Amino acid sequence: MLNIAIQKKGRMSEDSIKLLRDCGLRFSSSGKGLISPSSGFPANIYYLRDDDIPEYVQDGIADVGIVGLNVVEEGQNNVVISRNLGFSKCRLSIAIPRDMNYDGIQDLAGKDIATSYPVILSKYLKKYGIDSGIHTISGSVEIAPGIGLAEGICDLVSTGSTLLSNGLKEVEVIMKSEAVMISNPTLDLEKQSLLEKLLFRLNAVHQASTSKYILLNAPNDKIDAIIDILPGMKSPSILPLAEDGWSSIHSVVSEDDFWEVIDQLKENGAESLLVVPIEKMVL
Ligand code: PRP
Ligand code: ZN
Repeated sequence: MLNIAIQKKGRMSEDSIKLLRDCGLRFSSSGKGLISPSSGFPANIYYLRDDDIPEYVQDGIADVGIVGLNVVEEGQNNVVISRNLGFSKCRLSIAIPRDMNYDGIQDLAGKDIATSYPVILSKYLKKYGIDSGIHTISGSVEIAPGIGLAEGICDLVSTGSTLLSNGLKEVEVIMKSEAVMISNPTLDLEKQSLLEKLLFRLNAVHQASTSKYILLNAPNDKIDAIIDILPGMKSPSILPLAEDGWSSIHSVVSEDDFWEVIDQLKENGAESLLVVPIEKMVL
């Protein structure tokens, strides 16, 4: 059994549940109990507070966990980062009141900064030789300047709307964060092989979500030009159409250069393009 810790509630919780389900794990998310057994993969899901996840994984109560990189860095626990997961992207930043003058980090010297990330913040300030007061609070950090608790804050920023609605401006980005899969550094062989299986499934899900299956028709004399545009996995499949002199070409394109590829295909004589999502991709 692999014991997998995920966040009990919050934005990352839903995405973590979805990812594990895409990997074939079936479990209850009713959130009533702390632990949900899974079928489809030998695992238990532990629903925990995000800040506690690295410690549970370090202590071996959970074998792996899905948590923000920011929480891992702050916790300084002995865990291995097995994989970046690409969701819950955000940054940890310092922000100050919008009307406060700011010419550089030296302006933070002697100021008080409220944060839930004292470890990361103090490392950052130390790196620049800045001496600021750090007020550690566990939530609602953004209201600290407004109530006179601190002059600035250091908190997670995603869209920036929390800062905006609290009259704050972002002045320093300390780190970029996203969801990561962490694991205990001393897993036994059985758990290690389960983790590898899970990582294999994660890759298949990830590959699929960033790729599209594309089908198109083209006159036979355009096939060479079109094949040059399509990267494909090995090489594209080409099937003759009922209409003489025409073929159907099938391939896989990545989301990144998707529109560029479509434009080029059309310019080179592709017709009746069909683009379909891929559910899983095993290379
Ligand atoms: C974070 C952070 C801000 C907000 C920023 O909280 O503490 O409050 O997100 O997002 P925005 O830039 O899109 O407005 P989160 O919702 O992750 O909850 P938590 O602080 O309790 O973990
Ligand atoms: Zn949190």
